[in-house]
Amino acid sequence: MSETLPVPHGLPMDRDAGPFDPPRQITRLRETRPVSPMVFPDGHEGWLVTGYEAVRQLLADTRFSSRQDLGVLHIPYETPGMPAATEPAPQIPGMFVAMDPPDHTRLRRKLIGAFTVKRMKQLEEHIGEIAERQLDAMARLTPPVDLVKEFALPVPSLVICELLGVPYEDRETFQVNSAKFLVKEQSLEEKMAAWNALTTYLAELVTRKRAEPGDDILSDLARDDDLSIEELIGIAFLLLLAGHETTANMLALGAFALLERPEQLADLRAEPELMPDAVEELMRYLSVGDIFFRYATEDIELGGETIGKGSTVVVSLLAANRDPRRFADPDTLDVRRKARGHLSFGHGVHQCLGQQLARVEMRAGFDGLLRRFPTLELAVPAGEVRLRTDMNIYGVHELPVTWTETAR
Ligand code: HEM
Repeated sequence: MSETLPVPHGLPMDRDAGPFDPPRQITRLRETRPVSPMVFPDGHEGWLVTGYEAVRQLLADTRFSSRQDLGVLHIPYETPGMPAATEPAPQIPGMFVAMDPPDHTRLRRKLIGAFTVKRMKQLEEHIGEIAERQLDAMARLTPPVDLVKEFALPVPSLVICELLGVPYEDRETFQVNSAKFLVKEQSLEEKMAAWNALTTYLAELVTRKRAEPGDDILSDLARDDDLSIEELIGIAFLLLLAGHETTANMLALGAFALLERPEQLADLRAEPELMPDAVEELMRYLSVGDIFFRYATEDIELGGETIGKGSTVVVSLLAANRDPRRFADPDTLDVRRKARGHLSFGHGVHQCLGQQLARVEMRAGFDGLLRRFPTLELAVPAGEVRLRTDMNIYGVHELPVTWTETAR
């Protein structure tokens, strides 16, 4: 084993290389030791995986368990006062992102039909209309406005609410509470309070749907007697959280990145048919869902190292997606690149269930935004944009933008 770099203590998080780039320490580690030991702040040892091949191999290997972080309730070592788990965590009913096969398989199977490429293709036009309506509303405002509040957050929230059958008027409950799960330094008490508020709300909703099912995904699930009310709550929670925060941050951070690269923006405006490739490239380049945890259920060889049974393993999808061994000139955003093979939707059995939905939302969102606001620009210096370094899904807290004209 090479010892070229000191073992990191805690996860390097500082965006010292720029708002869109991995922390320098992470990049150095990937070059010298892509599967590296690390020490968590509570003193226990684990592993940090940053190389593309190693991350991909790890995500495809179910000996690396997802029963690590109690879903979203407890990110190991981050929640003050909670040490990382060294054995499989108890499962929360329905929270299949934090389960292993066969429990994971049983629940995921019930949802696959609702999120197929075909279903999402059928929804494309409707999602386009939702984005247009939101842009109409934004065009009526006097700039500067916050793009997160007026566009990036509402579009995916409206879409996931409609698909699941969650009243959009209730968005305060889920937007505010789900954001609390993503704050890194949130105490366990606060996370539990947010969890209780959300699950109380969702319990009432799914119980109503079981009694009187409508035409939406949660109603379809509620018709299935094989699923308990607790499982319905967990699934609803997971879909609602995963379904709006990630895409919202991609839309806002993606707009920021494009505004910072006028030549890329001009290419995309001139050739809208580049959009599908541009979306993949933005996904690769920004990797807003960066850090994921696994737990080794036995001794496993990875990238020339032996990861001992019981180890907590951290992967950085951002580091993997910027690996020069996989993508040429990886730190350049190139909307013409074919970025297929990026890991931003994960890989293996847990690969993002909503990826086709997210793609449709991003294509419609960026397409509408660039067309309707041909003179869109930042309303503050780039250095003043507040980055979400304090959150588990990266992005911007606000994106003040302005414009001089709008188009249809
Ligand atoms: C899983 C990213 C949008 C639902 C995942 C995973 C990633 C990811 C990396 C794998 C987690 C793991 O391996 O532990 C993203 C990104 C999105 C996005 C970057 C937006 C750009 C969505 C949307 C939905 C969704 C719109 C809506 C339903 C899920 C679910 C899982 C998941 C349910 C768990 C799958 C499983 O455990 O089998 N996502 N996601 N995601 N995502 Fe997404």
